[in-house]
Amino acid sequence: MSATVELIVNGVAHRVVVEDEDLLLDVLRTRADATSVREGCGVGACGACTVLADGRSVSSCLALAARYDGARITTADGLPDGDEVVDAFVANRAMQCGYCIPGFVLMSHELLAENPSPSREEITDHLEGNICRCGTYSEIVAAVESAAERRAEARDGDLMGESA
Ligand code: FES
Ligand code: FES
Repeated sequence: MSATVELIVNGVAHRVVVEDEDLLLDVLRTRADATSVREGCGVGACGACTVLADGRSVSSCLALAARYDGARITTADGLPDGDEVVDAFVANRAMQCGYCIPGFVLMSHELLAENPSPSREEITDHLEGNICRCGTYSEIVAAVESAAERRAEARDGDLMGESA
């Protein structure tokens, strides 16, 4: 059966007709210009296809697009210039081929939204479902730590500005 759904992808509404079995991964890549969403394993085991749906991480290779009518989807290519998580990944050289990185970046965003000052263990726990075949795990953890620090500095700066 087909249905028309509206996906708000990186702030832009896309009305698409989907079949019951259409995967969110394919709809995002082929019909919503979100080509940063990557297919790795295709079975929910690597995290490469992660997107945020209303702020929650979703393995888009397992998600049926029809279930996301009205959802606000964030993909890595929708993050703004100057995004502190992306910048921290670059500054920490937390990538080699880069294939896995959109998923790691979005998982990191989810973590920092829930827990602005995660411990190293909390970072590794949150990212444990994401696989990097190039093995840049230590750089990725360092990048998340540095993004958290940068956000904390920005918050402190804002508070000082308010109290001045
Ligand atoms: S491609 Fe979706 S989890 Fe691997
Ligand atoms: S940087 Fe190559 S798979 Fe992670």
